[in-house]
Amino acid sequence: MRTISTIFIAISFFHYSRSATIFNNQLNYKDVRNNIIAAEESIRTGGNIYLSPKEHEADKILLTMKEKSINRGIIDPSSYAPSLHFFHAKPLIEKDPIFDIIKRLPKGGVLHLHNSAGVSSEWVIKNLTYRNDVKLCNSTDGEKIFTTVPTKACQSEPIPIPKLRAQAQDVKEFDKSLELMINLYTKYPELDYPDVNTVWKKFQNIFSIIGGIFDYLPTYKAFHRRLLEELYEDNVMYLEMRTGMGGLIDENGNKLNSDDVALVLLNLVDEFKKDHPLFLGLKVILAIPRNSDTQSLELKMQRFVELRKKYPNFVIGFDLVGQEDIGRPLSQYVEKLKEISQNGRFFFHAGETNWFNTDADHNLIDAILMNTKRIGHGYSLYKHPVLWEAFKEKDIALEISPISNQVLHLVQDLRNHPASFYISENIPIVIANDDPGFWNAKGLSYDFYYAFMAFAPSDTGLQILKQLAWNSLKYSAMSQKERSDAAVVFKASWDKFIDSILLMENKNTST
Ligand SMILES: *[C@@H]1O[C@H](CO)[C@@H](O)[C@H](O)[C@H]1NC(C)=O
Ligand SMILES: *[C@@H]1O[C@H](CO)[C@@H](O)[C@H](O)[C@H]1NC(C)=O
Ligand SMILES: [Zn+2]
Repeated sequence: MRTISTIFIAISFFHYSRSATIFNNQLNYKDVRNNIIAAEESIRTGGNIYLSPKEHEADKILLTMKEKSINRGIIDPSSYAPSLHFFHAKPLIEKDPIFDIIKRLPKGGVLHLHNSAGVSSEWVIKNLTYRNDVKLCNSTDGEKIFTTVPTKACQSEPIPIPKLRAQAQDVKEFDKSLELMINLYTKYPELDYPDVNTVWKKFQNIFSIIGGIFDYLPTYKAFHRRLLEELYEDNVMYLEMRTGMGGLIDENGNKLNSDDVALVLLNLVDEFKKDHPLFLGLKVILAIPRNSDTQSLELKMQRFVELRKKYPNFVIGFDLVGQEDIGRPLSQYVEKLKEISQNGRFFFHAGETNWFNTDADHNLIDAILMNTKRIGHGYSLYKHPVLWEAFKEKDIALEISPISNQVLHLVQDLRNHPASFYISENIPIVIANDDPGFWNAKGLSYDFYYAFMAFAPSDTGLQILKQLAWNSLKYSAMSQKERSDAAVVFKASWDKFIDSILLMENKNTST
């Protein structure tokens, strides 16, 4: 009670003092106006980031490009990628020279990604489904699903996909139809997904369709290796991955439990680091469906405690996942979850909703009261002024996933996303990709593009990019040592990135 009222008084005072000095009626109109703009600039995310003379040069180049793009958008809003649905925007984004820069930008880490949805659907089809051990069967719901090892989920005899492909009239069409099973892409998202529940239903269903691919050790390994590769190629050096850490079957039919799976992942990362020297590491957040019954929740909590004890620097925390609007709220789990609050940190999804003062919205309150380390989405936080200050004071970052929020129907035009408000108030945020493979994205650059072009102020360049990238290291669960090592690697990549922008400009002026 006391902390809350202290926070409240602190905000009112802050707001008062902020404006009282700026709206000084001794000054002329123009000076007051300039003061307002300068004051807002100094408050917002990245506003106080130092830029070296070289960075200033690069910033000018970037801002010139951004200004051009925005001016085009003001004249022709209907082809302005940052305001469009990603399914329409993707080809336009790829044509924007700013996207090239965003791809080269060292982005630090991804702190919010679900493993099953982490790889581009194109690779899953072009690679995994060309293996004889990846099959299709009809599920008990009468729907086609991918499968590898014997499972009760199949009602019909599983058939190797290469065999089905060999019988197909048109291989390209066949592969396309497979890809649509695991990708929400459609030409007409507005018609095919008229509301939040429709799109969530299809979205959740993809997890069931693709899930069987990961039950088999060789495909599990290939998939996760590719996951790291796609991030690395996109200049992401580190990952905190949400996963259920379910069991696997190996080539000899042996069962591996989640303990073995942890070792599989750790070995995979060690191997990956050998040929990708800048990669900094992987940690996992154990995630379970929020609608789990008490028994499976208890089981998973117990598994978490054991894994955490064994791999304290790898299994970092716990989360509940699934559509919040129609799922069980955190408040129902508080007593249960308290049992493990000593064992590790929480990384709760919360406030991924358009509703105000519903259970889903109030998940934010429970998350913070349970000392969550970060928040997945926190979309509805902008409606809760008392929580803004608490987030700043406790230095809790929101994991913002622009494309996810758009595709899953929280907002159409991403310029209207509350992240703009979080940036203007300097509420800590990091940019994440959530489930890129399920919506035709790949890596983190598309999300970063939206953050830069739709969330950030029009006249902000390198400062915000630098801050967002650093935030991903700052708000990660790395140890002090890991973080300082990461800073060295990041700094070197950043300097190279700046040089590459300057070089680009030299080329342009010399031709
Ligand atoms: C699948 O991907 C792996 C790793 O990227 C690669 O080594 C392998 O050659 C690929 N296989 C096919 C059939 O594309
Ligand atoms: C699934 O069911 C359909 C008809 O219901 C059938 O034509 C098809 O062969 C089945 N697929 C498999 C893989 O068994
Ligand atoms: Zn998520």
